[in-house]
Amino acid sequence: MIEKLASVIKEIENITINSATELEEYRLKYLSRKGLLNELFDEFKQIPNAEKKETGKVMNLLKQAAELKLTTATEQFQKSLINDTSDLDITLPGDQIPLGTRHPLSIFQNKVIDVFRKLGFTIAEGPEIEDDWHNFSGLNFPQNHPARDMQDTFFVTNDLSLRTHCTSVQVRLMENQKPPIRAIMPGRVYRNEAISARSHCFFHQIDGVYIDKNVSFADLKQTLFYFVKELFGADYGIRFRPSYFPFTEPSAEMDIACIICKGKGCNVCKHTGWLEILGCGMIDPNVLKDSGIDPEIYSGFAFGMGLERTTMMQYGIKDIRLLSTNDKRFLSQFETQ
Ligand code: DAH
Repeated sequence: MIEKLASVIKEIENITINSATELEEYRLKYLSRKGLLNELFDEFKQIPNAEKKETGKVMNLLKQAAELKLTTATEQFQKSLINDTSDLDITLPGDQIPLGTRHPLSIFQNKVIDVFRKLGFTIAEGPEIEDDWHNFSGLNFPQNHPARDMQDTFFVTNDLSLRTHCTSVQVRLMENQKPPIRAIMPGRVYRNEAISARSHCFFHQIDGVYIDKNVSFADLKQTLFYFVKELFGADYGIRFRPSYFPFTEPSAEMDIACIICKGKGCNVCKHTGWLEILGCGMIDPNVLKDSGIDPEIYSGFAFGMGLERTTMMQYGIKDIRLLSTNDKRFLSQFETQ
């Protein structure tokens, strides 16, 4: 039997395995349950005990040789599979992964935020469902003001409504922080308006506030002047017109030279050369006092602007509804801005 075993060892040593199929054939022939090695082992059990010691040694050698062949062939075969790049064509174009694009309103909002960040303003946010105090009373709105009417405002309950402006966040800031306060407040606001190409029942605003000792109207003008230069470029003039808001005194509206015709006069600016972009003023002392800030010590300015109109002008967007219909064909046009 020893000779038989020795010849099987030789046979195994001479085998070359070149493919997965050959590897499996080899395993089945020698090492499976019904393979040659198990057959020989059964035979081994039959031989006289006196021969078992010597034969057992060779039997072990055979087993080791057979298993070694299997493992080395498996390893080699796996390695060659990994290194086999014959099917790989690196000149083929890659799969396109579609990326989302920024919304034009976000692009414009981020630009505004960047300018005010440079001036040391932080960003503050507040709830879109707001109580009467923060949206109206704390801002000096008289009881009979039209904004308090169902016609103009979406009421949730007697005391709660969808905020009509981001100025509500200013009240929250004044209640919770001590001056100096310097923040801008971006967000969505709601008004009960018929939806058309020019107006919508929700839109976006950015309000700003600066409260400290000795803040004056000159600071307000200079801040907004810097803002316009940074955002639109040095060619754009600004002008202030007196206005009225319940929460500021004095109040103004600020125009910039039309960004389409640069002040020459065109359809967009209705041939005036100017575009109204924001409301502003010095915070009314009553408003400061109602929020716990002493108007004898502190003063502050505030401003608020809508995002939609300016964004639409900049990109030549003719219908405000395009900004909220989520049409990819429209939205994907702004990715490089
Ligand atoms: N909240 C005003 C509006 O929605 C805009 C505004 C005007 C905000 C003057 C202000 C401000 O902070 O000082 O029309």
